[in-house]
Amino acid sequence: MNILFYGQGLANDGWLEAMRTTWPDSDIQLWSAQLDTRWQADYALLWHPPVELFASQHQLKAIFNLGAGVDALLRLPGRPTEVPIIKLRNAGMDPWMFDYIHYGVLHFGRNFDHYRRQQQQKLWQPHASQAPNTRCIGVLGLGALGQTVAQRFRQLGYRVQGWSRGPKSIEGIDTYSGLEHLGAFLGRCDVLVNLLPGTEETCNLLNASRLAQLRQGTVLINAGRGTTLDPDALNHALDSGHLRGALLDVFHAEPLPSDHPLWARSDVIITPHIAAPTLIDEALQQIATDMQSLEQGLFVPHVDSAQGY
Ligand code: NAP
Ligand code: GLV
Repeated sequence: MNILFYGQGLANDGWLEAMRTTWPDSDIQLWSAQLDTRWQADYALLWHPPVELFASQHQLKAIFNLGAGVDALLRLPGRPTEVPIIKLRNAGMDPWMFDYIHYGVLHFGRNFDHYRRQQQQKLWQPHASQAPNTRCIGVLGLGALGQTVAQRFRQLGYRVQGWSRGPKSIEGIDTYSGLEHLGAFLGRCDVLVNLLPGTEETCNLLNASRLAQLRQGTVLINAGRGTTLDPDALNHALDSGHLRGALLDVFHAEPLPSDHPLWARSDVIITPHIAAPTLIDEALQQIATDMQSLEQGLFVPHVDSAQGY
């Protein structure tokens, strides 16, 4: 079997070594423009591939996306639309995603934002902390990551609610679905966590009017995709004091342009898209199982390009 790898920003050597251990009998190649075009892959493991890659590969049975979000791949011109795309379904990312979001919940919930500012003034002034069971964490997106994150917060005693496209029933979590119920969902959050994919439907979902539906003092954590949030609307909602603060990992344009006003805000924490990294061993474990199922003609969940996730 021939397997192609391309991973923008990923550690090529580590991936290739682990792939050769996982598939010792396969021919594994790193894509480059110099790769002999007579060499055709059965499967490709890709993260943010260049457009030229697909022009030279014509026998792919499936594309494995080396991440949970498929927005970049679906947008790529020249992608062979008949080849199924299989994304990572958690693949060990959930503890990382939970830790990232928990950090944001604690930062604002335990008033570290105030204490950072007070330290600059050498000001010793305690603030009342809010107990978990008095705070409602609202998770947008109840997929492979959102569901696990929601359940972890529930186990810690937080009140948790979630919103998804289709209805869901998850023990201990209030669930909402569809745009018609989004307003009710937003109005009950103390912390709003975005774990939605970047699709046409989710683009600018969190605009000025939706942010206005949040309660005064809500904290926003965006670890899904930047396209879901209107950054100017966020800036305005923070300026007006309607929102308490934000932890942001993803942006419309990455890196966030250096002149963007969000960089300078003390009530915003910015991280460079690191909330939940792709883990080589866990990802290859899922991919190897999926590949074996495909070879046996069994069903493997794949991306619905019309829905965009
Ligand atoms: P997933 O399993 O595909 O789940 C997506 C969830 O979003 C589903 O619950 C889906 O609803 C819901 N959804 C999609 N479109 C919707 C819409 N228009 N209205 C309401 N709900 C909608 O994805 P995942 O694995 O949990 O990952 C979520 C996203 O996190 C990824 O797409 C990626 O963008 C992001 N991510 C970021 C990082 C990072 O480091 N920052 C790391 C990993 C992932 P249904 O359940 O009804 O289908
Ligand atoms: C990271 O952003 C991912 O989609 O896995």
